Amino acid sequence: MKKILLTGVTGQVGRALQRHLAQFPLAGWQVVACDRQQMDLTAPEHIRTVVREVAPALIIHPAAYTAVDHAESESALAFAINATAPKVLAEEAARLKAGMIHFSTDYVYDGTKASVYVETDKVNPVSVYGASKLAGEDAIRQVGLPHLILRTSWVYGADGKNFLKTILRLAHTRESMRIVSDQHGAPTSDASIAQAVRQLLDVWEVENSDHTGVYHLVNRGETSWFGFASAIVDKYQQLATDYSWPALAVKEIAPIAAAEYPTPAKRPSNSKLSTEKLAQTFGVMLPAWQESLDQVMHRLTPGVNV
Ligand SMILES: NC(=O)c1ccc[n+]([C@@H]2O[C@H](COP(=O)([O-])OP(=O)(O)OC[C@H]3O[C@@H](n4cnc5c(N)ncnc54)[C@H](OP(=O)(O)O)[C@@H]3O)[C@@H](O)[C@H]2O)c1
Repeated sequence: MKKILLTGVTGQVGRALQRHLAQFPLAGWQVVACDRQQMDLTAPEHIRTVVREVAPALIIHPAAYTAVDHAESESALAFAINATAPKVLAEEAARLKAGMIHFSTDYVYDGTKASVYVETDKVNPVSVYGASKLAGEDAIRQVGLPHLILRTSWVYGADGKNFLKTILRLAHTRESMRIVSDQHGAPTSDASIAQAVRQLLDVWEVENSDHTGVYHLVNRGETSWFGFASAIVDKYQQLATDYSWPALAVKEIAPIAAAEYPTPAKRPSNSKLSTEKLAQTFGVMLPAWQESLDQVMHRLTPGVNV
């Protein structure tokens, strides 16, 4: 059996991938899942030892330092996890003649483009996190192994820490919420990423070097954080009766400018990513963000995962 080494299985995307690959196994492949204890990404020698022991034919690497604001003051740690670790993984994969699927972010762009971003657009991260993720991408490209770098955005799900969970927590306790309305992108559910990657695994020919490169992988459509928060609260209220969920306290959601909500890290105002290349190359298309939100909301259990 060939092996897939899957990192970050306590994170949103890693957990969703582990679950989805268990439900829809790939014939002839076995998934070896790794958490922080099994492979510490701040320790290059540990990474090398684990990869050599497992000897995978493919590494899928969603683990990352994702604390965007903290990264501004923890630059060395962010770069160790987001740049050095993927480089070491890629080097080890190359030694084994394995491929690599890596995850990156909309935050590699500066957001100043007026229209939707395509993969060939200029990158120019405006945060330490974005710069560290771009350095990880560059390192993988430099190693030169067969790879897919999947840039996704605004990841959320029923598990883990994310915007949806924060909004529902606040909506249970506050009557009024002020949410940024001048940053635009695509909320992308962890489950829809896992489904898309599973589809990719059916069609990606690792040996076909034409396919190596960067792809945007996000839910279809776009909104603002304000639009996303409003949709989360609306959906909760629609489902509350059916599921006997507790009523929300929130009565008003007000749109504000990002300038009114200063954060340590700057974020791009335009995070809209075209998924045309993914669709054209592999025939993989993700659902509209509203559809994925609907599926996630049905998996919530207030008092348990909210
Ligand atoms: N979240 C987003 O909104 C977003 C947006 C765009 C792109 N992305 C990218 O998508 C990918 C998946 O993100 P996600 O939302 O699934 O992230 P996440 O939920 O924050 O999970 C991060 C994972 O990385 C692991 N990790 C962190 N430091 C580690 C270390 N030193 N050693 C080993 N493991 C470590 C975490 O383990 P612990 O549980 O032990 O901490 C966790 O399993 C990442 O590449 C991220 O950059 C995310």
